Amino acid sequence: MVQWTAEERAAIQGVFAKLDYESVGRESLTRCLVVYPWTQRYFGGFGNLYNAEAIMANPKIAAHGIVVLQGLEKALNNMDNIKKTFSALSELHSEKLQVDPGNFQLLGDCLTVVIATRMRTDFTPDIQAAWQKFLCVVISALKRQYY
Ligand code: HEM
Repeated sequence: MVQWTAEERAAIQGVFAKLDYESVGRESLTRCLVVYPWTQRYFGGFGNLYNAEAIMANPKIAAHGIVVLQGLEKALNNMDNIKKTFSALSELHSEKLQVDPGNFQLLGDCLTVVIATRMRTDFTPDIQAAWQKFLCVVISALKRQYY
């Protein structure tokens, strides 16, 4: 089982406390779809994804950005059992959506970039280290049903 120090828990909670789900969710998902355009294939039903401006203005993308962050919040609220918390979500991405599991890291990286631009100097190396550990556990839980 993953062990979390009190400092790591506080650091991750601190990142979430400053997150504006709407803008950070939209920006992270947009960034992922623009920087790694092959990820667009899973969002065929979302309408216009023609270019960065269209993706940023797409209301379905904005809504989904919030959904992703709400999913991460579930992991935050269940830090001692992220694997179990995400078992249905992993199954959904694997079996129904058939998302290539390598894409989880790509979206996670985009989210980290957006958080860094928001938090600036508050996103210290120690805070980032705790954040990366959290994402690593989340991504491994999401990949679990693929094996
Ligand atoms: C940090 C990683 C991710 C998290 C926490 C996450 C979370 C979620 C959540 C909570 C849902 C809604 C599930 C439901 O309705 O029961 C969802 C749906 C979905 N996810 Fe993910 N996801 C992640 C990564 C990805 C990636 C990388 C892709 C594709 C590149 C993806 C594609 C989708 C799609 C296509 C849906 C269904 C959207 C719809 O039709 O409304 N997800 N995800």
